[in-house]
Amino acid sequence: MNVIGYITKKIEGFVSRNCIGMCWVEKYYAQLVKNEISLGDITAEDRVMCIGGGPVPCTAIGIARETGAKVAVVDNDPMAVKLASELIKRLNLKDRIEVIEANGQNLMPNEFTVIHIAKQVCPREEVLKYMWNNVSEGTRILVRNPQKGLKFLYENRCSRKIKNEKADEFLTEEEMINGTLLFVR
Ligand SMILES: C[S@@+](CC[C@H](N)C(=O)[O-])C[C@H]1O[C@@H](n2cnc3c(N)ncnc32)[C@H](O)[C@@H]1O
Repeated sequence: MNVIGYITKKIEGFVSRNCIGMCWVEKYYAQLVKNEISLGDITAEDRVMCIGGGPVPCTAIGIARETGAKVAVVDNDPMAVKLASELIKRLNLKDRIEVIEANGQNLMPNEFTVIHIAKQVCPREEVLKYMWNNVSEGTRILVRNPQKGLKFLYENRCSRKIKNEKADEFLTEEEMINGTLLFVR
């Protein structure tokens, strides 16, 4: 895991255990998640899988609350899964958010209509390739902060390329860093 991933998980672990700073973490993700909901056209009818939820799965919480969609949060770290499960229970979201311990490359995603891949998911390219090869037709895959290595998937396969905080704008490849990419199968 990279340094940022490690620090993020430590901060989220503290927040999840103590509920101190929860507002700050939620605020950090709020606009980004709203933009991603709009980019992916996520509605209550969708079945969403968030890969890499961490101890504070704000993306999953935001999607469930904003859209009413049912969300499965996946993480391969047992401690993150434990803390996230406790948090979801405390927030009374158990009927809408399920927390699963698994690796993003070992799941059958074909019942999901939206897949969200978090920034620190590793190896991200492999997880994306796996999802791309196993999701059902029409599934939307949202990938945070892609790198140039993902270019092989860009051509002719995305209905739209990217939208970041500047909603409705399409960005160049250089500008894609720090944004979210949408792939439609
Ligand atoms: C620190 S979190 C950040 C996510 C953030 N809380 C959110 O709501 O978007 C990133 C998580 O991704 C998990 N992760 C990394 N690679 C993964 C993989 N291949 N499969 C499942 N989880 C993964 C890590 O264990 C970590 O908990």
